[in-house]
Amino acid sequence: MPLLVKNARIVTSTADYTADIYCEHETITRIDRAIAPSTLPPCDILDAAGLITFPGFIDPHVHVYLPFMGTFAKDTWASASRSSLLGGTTTLVEMICPARTDDPTSAYDLWRSKARESVCDYSFHMGVTRFDDRTPAALKQIVDAGITSLKVFLAYKGALGVDDRELFDTLRVARELGVVVAAHCENQELVALLQKRMLAAGKTGPEWHEPSRPPYVEASGVHHLCAFAEATGARVYIVHTSCQPAIEEARRAAARGVRVDLEAVIPHLVLDRSFAERPNFDGAKYVMSPPLREKRHQEALWHALAAGDIATIATDHAPFDFATQKSMGKDDFTKIPNGIPSVEDRVNLLYTRGVCEGRIDLHTFVRVASTNAARILGLSTKGDVAVGLDADLCLYDPNHHAVISARSHAMQTDYSAFEGFEIRGRPRHVIRRGEIVVRDTALVATLSPGRLAPRIRTG
Ligand code: URP
Ligand code: ZN
Ligand code: ZN
Repeated sequence: MPLLVKNARIVTSTADYTADIYCEHETITRIDRAIAPSTLPPCDILDAAGLITFPGFIDPHVHVYLPFMGTFAKDTWASASRSSLLGGTTTLVEMICPARTDDPTSAYDLWRSKARESVCDYSFHMGVTRFDDRTPAALKQIVDAGITSLKVFLAYKGALGVDDRELFDTLRVARELGVVVAAHCENQELVALLQKRMLAAGKTGPEWHEPSRPPYVEASGVHHLCAFAEATGARVYIVHTSCQPAIEEARRAAARGVRVDLEAVIPHLVLDRSFAERPNFDGAKYVMSPPLREKRHQEALWHALAAGDIATIATDHAPFDFATQKSMGKDDFTKIPNGIPSVEDRVNLLYTRGVCEGRIDLHTFVRVASTNAARILGLSTKGDVAVGLDADLCLYDPNHHAVISARSHAMQTDYSAFEGFEIRGRPRHVIRRGEIVVRDTALVATLSPGRLAPRIRTG
């Protein structure tokens, strides 16, 4: 059934105005000052007065099906996509994460099959964890199927990380195919050496995770990637940038013409290193890579966001239970599964800590949580409220006050990294391709499936 959204204060990356929005056949077909329902065929009507109507939010970096560090991430596509919609995110981009020994095409098929449970729209970064003679043809086939970004790890040595020859070849092929390459940047050799040194000194707790991957380790990874991007001409997208030296490396590369965009993630913006230093192994809840940093790096991230030097805010949602999974690293922090669950909380925390606390304006909020991800990743039907685009809308209540808790979240983990954090806004209604999927803050009973979002090549 078509949908009419009345009295919408529409806020996009560039505009702020009031109008009615008419959606039919999954698309926005009219935006006008006053659309009279009597002039329309029978349709659903939502009154958006008092709310802010944003484009559906896009999370450009999540993990849902993730075999990692000897276990599997906790969410399914059913739970992760429901959590996303409740949090205002209508599109997720997940990494296909094959083991080095896996065939890329089979991995692509496997990850696609898992996402059939999704109720939000989705796409993937195709992970390259090995590069051999058959890789170029496999990547071409996957890119031709609409997966227009690759992903590499310059981390996790001996597991998912690629060597320099593989990095060069991946970037070279990406350039030929015209696609962007997302990259996790850390100097994996240094990480391995520092971890070894820590463990040898009896430093086994989660508080030693950050010192084993300090800011210079990440900056070194960024520098390395940018040199390879310069050599190949590839466009790169650096995920989960966490600190000032990494931002500076990327700035320097951009100044000499490297095509590089930066992503930051919500845990790095609102949590600092002291969380990972909590006693009685509680710090394990906050172990992710790159690690949570000293507070001053958080401020650097917010400034870079406001200045436009960070293009997107993602989650890097990677959920592991505290009781049964994080505990795998009880005697050795290098065995704690890395990752923080956050797909439900990104928009509300960014709004609360960013907009309400005056660090970013509403347009920057939309740009980094939706529009820029669509542009960089070629999600050509998403990221804006405009005639002809997918009718993905988040009708946001800017006056809602609540507290985050694992007791009320829809993610499957047994803890929340943001337990007790106040939020000062939340989605009231969420619309995905013209269908109301969240009404009055609750998921509707019957949800149609999400779908693979069409993408163009942006590399
Ligand atoms: O700690 C993290 N970030 N876990 C997920 C895998 C990754 O590196 O993105
Ligand atoms: Zn990563
Ligand atoms: Zn990740």
